[in-house]
Amino acid sequence: MKDNKNLRPIWQDDDPDSVKIIDQRFLPHQFVTIDLKNVDDAIFAIKEMCVRGAPLIGITAAYGVYLAALSLQYNPAGDDFITGEFLRLKAARPTAVNLAWAAERVLNRVLSATGIQNKIESARNEAGKIAEEEVDNCRNIGLHGLEIIEEISRRKAGRTVNILTHCNAGWLACIEYGTATAPIYAAYDKGLDIHVWVDETRPLNQGARLTAWELGRHGVNHTVITDNAGGHIMQHGMVDLVIVGSDRTTSTGDVANKIGTYLKALAAKDNGIPFYVALPSSTFDWNLSDGVKEIPIEMRNPDEVRYLQGLDKDAIRSVLIPPAGSRAANFAFDVTPARLVTGYITERGVCDAAGIRKLFPEKI
Ligand code: MRU
Repeated sequence: MKDNKNLRPIWQDDDPDSVKIIDQRFLPHQFVTIDLKNVDDAIFAIKEMCVRGAPLIGITAAYGVYLAALSLQYNPAGDDFITGEFLRLKAARPTAVNLAWAAERVLNRVLSATGIQNKIESARNEAGKIAEEEVDNCRNIGLHGLEIIEEISRRKAGRTVNILTHCNAGWLACIEYGTATAPIYAAYDKGLDIHVWVDETRPLNQGARLTAWELGRHGVNHTVITDNAGGHIMQHGMVDLVIVGSDRTTSTGDVANKIGTYLKALAAKDNGIPFYVALPSSTFDWNLSDGVKEIPIEMRNPDEVRYLQGLDKDAIRSVLIPPAGSRAANFAFDVTPARLVTGYITERGVCDAAGIRKLFPEKI
């Protein structure tokens, strides 16, 4: 890390009654943190995207169940209360499967523990355990993905490897390393000559705001481009590979990710450029087999499309872009069919769609 600060997007300090997060709505221009003290705070943080990115949403929801467990001390409804709070957390955002997966893991620990103190302790331990597991997963995704970048670097005799990424699948979305960014950081740390094309990722600009901030802090050479530029730069030989993250991937390899990912996959296919998806096992939905038909796509507030937020002198402001009377629609994700994906970079290795079952035989 160039600026020597090892940050995480969620953590606990000495106060066991709260969980701290970076409020990502204000990055990169303001560094704001929030204390989550109850389930409503956790739901607000997830819905309003103070925290975002599939693994982080999952860990926030996991700590949300812990915050619910804390109030068992005053709540006679006990397990029924916790189950109700779990259901509220689960409904906060629909697309990232990590949310329900992580919250349910903590719920199950709470329900099987006896005594209020044990329930609280087991919730806290399980949420912390999930966070550490995701860190390990991302580290391993980085090591496996590094081999892909090394191979391209060898083929190019050490000349710059140009990687395109969409949205933010970095440590801000995943605790440490990130998913799509883990191979990028590993390649940079190993001294490979790399350059990253960062899609701005309208409407909330997670690429321009968050990925660019992360890469800059680490010292990685990068350029922010408009979402529509990808096809053009691919046609002109300026992209060697695409790596994106995922919010939910079916057992057959269909990938839900931030809106616009599908178009990048189509352009990559047309130009013979490898298109990789980096994801931990917590992002697979083992129950689904047709992503286009079955993955729920979040529709968000149209005002996120109508207004653009940025720094104006020293204040963050929003400005209206279309005519005041124009309707807008905000599809938050799309699904890239498995046939467009070259490979999946997971904590257990890299595979194609047919290989998912072989890498995770116990899941299917
Ligand atoms: O709406 P967001 O910001 O929560 O979207 C999630 C994402 O950041 C991405 O789609 C990302 O590529 C996958 S999450 C590691």
